[in-house]
Amino acid sequence: MIDIFKIREDFPILSRKVNGQNLIYFDNAATSQTPQQVIDVITDYYTRLNSNIHRGVHRLSQEATDAYEEARIKIQQHFNVAKPYEIIFTSGTTESINLVASGFSKLLKPEDELVISALEHHSNIVPWQMLCEKTGAKLKVIPMTQEGTLDIKIYKNILNKKTKLVFVNHVSNALGTLNPVDEIIKMAHKIGAYVLIDGAQACAHIKPDLQKMNVDFYVTSAHKLCGPTGVGMLYGKTELLQKLPPYQGGGEMISSVTFEKTTYADLPHKFEAGTPNIAGGIAFGAALDYMNSIGFKNIIKYENDLLKYATKEIKKIDGIKIYGDLQKKTAVISFNIKNIHPYDIGSILDQMGIAVRTGHHCAQPIMDYFEIPGTVRASFSFYNTFNEIDIMVKGVQKAIKMLQ
Ligand code: ALA
Repeated sequence: MIDIFKIREDFPILSRKVNGQNLIYFDNAATSQTPQQVIDVITDYYTRLNSNIHRGVHRLSQEATDAYEEARIKIQQHFNVAKPYEIIFTSGTTESINLVASGFSKLLKPEDELVISALEHHSNIVPWQMLCEKTGAKLKVIPMTQEGTLDIKIYKNILNKKTKLVFVNHVSNALGTLNPVDEIIKMAHKIGAYVLIDGAQACAHIKPDLQKMNVDFYVTSAHKLCGPTGVGMLYGKTELLQKLPPYQGGGEMISSVTFEKTTYADLPHKFEAGTPNIAGGIAFGAALDYMNSIGFKNIIKYENDLLKYATKEIKKIDGIKIYGDLQKKTAVISFNIKNIHPYDIGSILDQMGIAVRTGHHCAQPIMDYFEIPGTVRASFSFYNTFNEIDIMVKGVQKAIKMLQ
């Protein structure tokens, strides 16, 4: 069971004031907050270990290298990945997707097809459009439904022997929809296509077992799960990572360099050119330790209760519409109030110390589908409380009175 008061003490930011009010942080889907345990690991790195990794014979470099590689193993174990070198450190989900998209530019032919979903974040749309421009391959879209789910029947019809890659998010950042990724992966594999799952919005809420999913690529960012910004991962199956060319050239990613020819390092270093975000990588491991110390069973149960309560209370507000009011979703409520712009609600809530995100959430095709400029998105975490939800609901009601 979650001891909410003890957990909240781990997050120093939760006791700060915003506009004279206690901060209520409901923008967890944009970035999660960082517990003291993870902040301490970052401070400790710069206090005791700061050096460069994989290249020094001296003590600091060796200790920093060990800590960084231990973090890779923590990530490997957390996601149940077969080999540590199948985890590539990146700057985050966006870079991970760009790395794979760039790698496929030499492997695709103009007649090939790529399949994307209508629920994607721009970071899982634009790199593939750029890949299509380079290669001539065609992009096909799995449509969404009014409920905010994917139309799997149409997905089945889109798949064919020309389909080479499918990329879908595990959870929609704008609506919280939990997509049927196991089914999507199985169907793609039947016709020989590879699948990349964008896990940026899933990993704070569930613990994916990547071997069980049999996914080809999985990507996420540490800052969505209590880690720092600027670091994330790409998981890829060994044979696929070996097939892809390096993404960037530089130090660290080579085996030998002469002016005539360079040979590349083995995995994972082939994809890790330059000095990485060392403190970030180590803190990514610490963030997973922290979340596992709370336990994903506890997180899932508590966040589900929060979501159910928030949905029930928010629905009492006159003129409200929730987008993606689903059974299978993470703790996200995306809503609008009739005749009020989401930005106005968000700005008034900010005056009350309540942080929500407003706008298209980098998922413009979803907003276009609903024919709206954006939504107000409240996204919850295991450190939020039922009382905070009551305050937000009252805040929205107050905002409506001010705006009508
Ligand atoms: N992708 C992040 C969000 O949904 C930034 O807010």
